[in-house]
Amino acid sequence: MIQLNNVCKAFTNKKQRIKVLDCLNLQVNTGEMIAIMGRSGAGKSTLLNIMAGLEHVDEGQYFFHDEALSSKGREALATFRREKIGFIMQHYPLIDTKNVTENVALPLLYGKHPKKDAMSQAKKMLANLDIGYLEDQSIETLSGGEAQRVAIARALIQDPELILADEPTGSLDEEAEKDILDLCVHLNRAGKTFIIVTHDSVVAERCHKIYKLEDGRCLESPTGLIKKPLKSDDTC
Ligand SMILES: Nc1ncnc2c1ncn2[C@@H]1O[C@H](COP(=O)(O)OP(=O)(O)OP(=O)(O)O)[C@@H](O)[C@H]1O
Ligand SMILES: [Mg+2]
Repeated sequence: MIQLNNVCKAFTNKKQRIKVLDCLNLQVNTGEMIAIMGRSGAGKSTLLNIMAGLEHVDEGQYFFHDEALSSKGREALATFRREKIGFIMQHYPLIDTKNVTENVALPLLYGKHPKKDAMSQAKKMLANLDIGYLEDQSIETLSGGEAQRVAIARALIQDPELILADEPTGSLDEEAEKDILDLCVHLNRAGKTFIIVTHDSVVAERCHKIYKLEDGRCLESPTGLIKKPLKSDDTC
């Protein structure tokens, strides 16, 4: 599905030029669920933004199903993003002047769907994710786990092929994290390809493959070998 070939990306701030991605290669196949780990500032969000068509590469190529996105213009990338990508972030940026259903319907409304149809699709999506009971609720009354489920419903509403998740459980407690992870695994088994950026080995270990982003490149790490944090009931 995704092929990144020798991708380079640098940013220039007032003081210096920062090389973030340096001849990075990565292939993600349809149906995979992969994790990308790496220290803060390693370039994980930059990499996701490139895959979402939000950032251009400086050098190298980005193919999505054999379509070269590195050479596309802003409009074409916006269309690509709207049709193919679902984006989930750590701080689920929901709009708190709109209720849950309106938030989930938003991408359809931006795509000029009639409001009645968009709202009914949003309600169906909420029901599919077992949060139909939240449909009329206001955003500021949601728990962190519920807000992230609503954000996932919004990311899924246009039936994207690829879900990009940037630390999707970073703001959640252990129980809500497990809940969201179970949902991601369920959606992946139902056919969605997932790329998850995470600092958390518990999240990474639920994925098929783990990549470490280091020195501007992605290296595959063997799964099952990441040291898991000890739980309070673990014996030493
Ligand atoms: N638009 C930008 N302009 C200038 N520098 C940027 C820009 N975006 C990212 N950077 C720099 O690129 C580097 C990589 O940033 P990025 O956000 O991709 O890291 P990250 O791996 O996601 O980190 P974290 O784990 O903290 O979220 C950082 O040094 C950051 O300051
Ligand atoms: Mg980041």
